[in-house]
Amino acid sequence: MKQGKIVRFMGGAAVRGVKRITILLAAALLFFLHFANVNAMSAEERLAELRGLLHEHAYRYYVLDAPIIADGEYDALFQELLAIEAAHPELVTADSPSMRVGGAPLPEFRQVAHRLPMLSLDNVFSEGELLDFANRAGKSLRQEADISYVAEPKLDGLAVELIYQDGVLIEAATRGDGMVGEDISAQVKTIGDIPLRLRRSVSGRLEARGEVFLDKAGFARLNRQQEAAGKELFANPRNAAAGSLRQLDPAVTAGRPLRFFAYALAEPERFALNGQSEALRFLTECGLPVNPLSRPCADTRAVVAAFDDLAARREDLPYEIDGMVVKIDALALQKRLGEKSRSPRWAVAWKFPASQATTRLNAVEFQVGRTGAVTPVAILEPVLIGGVTVSRATLHNEDEIRRKDLRLGDTVLVQRAGDVIPEIVKVIVEKRPPDAEPLLMPEACPSCGGALAKEEGGAVLRCGNPLCPAQRLRELTHFASKAGLDIDGLGEKSLEQLVAFGLVQGIADLYRLHSEQLASLDGWGEKSAAALIQAIDAAKNPPLARFIAALGIRHVGEVTATALENHFETLDALAAADQEELLAIDGVGVEAANSISEFFHGDAGRALLDDVRAAGVVVRPAAKSDGPLVGMTVVFTGSLTHMTRDEAKRLAREGGGQVVGAVGQKVTHVVAGDKAGGKLKRARELGITILSEEEFLRLIGR
Ligand code: IVH
Repeated sequence: MKQGKIVRFMGGAAVRGVKRITILLAAALLFFLHFANVNAMSAEERLAELRGLLHEHAYRYYVLDAPIIADGEYDALFQELLAIEAAHPELVTADSPSMRVGGAPLPEFRQVAHRLPMLSLDNVFSEGELLDFANRAGKSLRQEADISYVAEPKLDGLAVELIYQDGVLIEAATRGDGMVGEDISAQVKTIGDIPLRLRRSVSGRLEARGEVFLDKAGFARLNRQQEAAGKELFANPRNAAAGSLRQLDPAVTAGRPLRFFAYALAEPERFALNGQSEALRFLTECGLPVNPLSRPCADTRAVVAAFDDLAARREDLPYEIDGMVVKIDALALQKRLGEKSRSPRWAVAWKFPASQATTRLNAVEFQVGRTGAVTPVAILEPVLIGGVTVSRATLHNEDEIRRKDLRLGDTVLVQRAGDVIPEIVKVIVEKRPPDAEPLLMPEACPSCGGALAKEEGGAVLRCGNPLCPAQRLRELTHFASKAGLDIDGLGEKSLEQLVAFGLVQGIADLYRLHSEQLASLDGWGEKSAAALIQAIDAAKNPPLARFIAALGIRHVGEVTATALENHFETLDALAAADQEELLAIDGVGVEAANSISEFFHGDAGRALLDDVRAAGVVVRPAAKSDGPLVGMTVVFTGSLTHMTRDEAKRLAREGGGQVVGAVGQKVTHVVAGDKAGGKLKRARELGITILSEEEFLRLIGR
């Protein structure tokens, strides 16, 4: 029955048809309202009443799964609402049920910065690892008594943030990179499970997070539709959910059977809640669907029992889950444990064991990565594992091939765990054909024919040719990817084409492209060429951290790049740093320090920087356009007691301020810690505002 309603109210084409008919209906209704003069109620009052009724019935239908009126009756109310709104567009509100049909397509997804980062979870795979997690937490809390937890099914969908202002849904965003996501408000409003207005009065801002997903039946139905329409099938429910949400035309999203479960509330203390179980109850009271299998656990024994129970029910659930999320319940303990860079210390995902299947190893391909590493990839007879077709598996390196004694034609056991790349567990030796040939690693780089070498003690074979096209292609792909400068329209396929036609060899060449060159290539038109040039132009002034991450230096991801940005103010300062200075930075390990200095002091790295500069790239220190410190230039001096110098700089930048090292005319504030000397004196002479550490913290609202 649920499906019927989704299709009836939210089918894209059907809805547009309905809209046309409703204009006629509206005219008739207007006539009725104004001339027959039999209604005592104004359009505004009736709309408010209809909104209330429709919200109530949608809640009963979607969230409680217990409707009290027939579909036809709901239909009639909905039509009446559409008709009145068509006649009085000025009375349409943000929480009107008519938002459910989607509305006009968007030109692009707007970026939204999350007020609080959207974290990910560390995984554990066994009872032992779960107990390690609990013991670590217990130790660091010096907690004698049992810690209590909340266990929640881990749905495999897409994390989404919902923002309600005074009870009305005003914004929804994807997780994105955890810091910045995409505005998918119009798309999310089409999901029947998600209330447009909370059922409990909540004044001010409420941020809820949860998972948007497709259940098993919805996924199967969607793929049947895709097939019938001759479109590509979705590999799994997760991809289908992501593809359905990231639709610029919300009417398309409206036609997809998406569902939602809320699992987190930001700042529960603001609602006088003491922990996760209370937050889940509160979310339920607000009318948000919370997974009914979520349950409190008094200790780790109860957590283990909950896991076994969930695993036993997994197959029978109407949606896919890939494990159980275990969260320490008490907010006070969560706060004391805090977070690492990407995940909290107070929660983990306990994943189900991987699904496995056997299949034939048909061939091996050798891929050359960004850093020259040659990775063997198994080409398998396609096989379905846990609902996903697997035809490739990583073989890691030569040692791994030897250890597993893999031969072409072997029958192998393959496993897939969540998002992880499938891998070969072992060979079924009993099934080995007598003529099975051993796998040999290539003697030369499969891309450029250059020499391959292993690092001392390492297992990885690398191509040492800095001009190797495969490496350059990967480097370019990384540079333009979301992990890098996120240049729209510049994916691996386009880059392959640009490299193949000699238009691009290195990063700097991207900035020298012009649209006529592009437009002459297969598959490109004037419009798409101009759009790409514009996107590349927009990436000419990247913030320092992004640029560092985009360079693809080994062991330097987003987190390290941010640490580097916080420490060095400019690219030049970073490029000049020696090993010792790098190692002194919080968050930079030995391996990263080595590869950073190798990069910036090596010829190739230097040439690259000179080249991108010559091409017009100006890297800027990340500054924000809002925050309490916008327009201020801050110097820190003396020793700080509440935070490290790097933290202080980061906080100042996050607050929109600029941080510099020396006191000069431009400086507006000097934050003086203990034993401040010359800089403080100079600041006094120049009449610059001087702040104590505490005053600074207050200024940024800490
Ligand atoms: S809590 C700070 N709870 O798993 C904690 N996440 O690996 C952040 N997920 O991105 C997440 N069910 O998409 C949480 N009950 C649940 C979840 C859940 C699924 C997903 C979510 C998140 C990912 C983390």
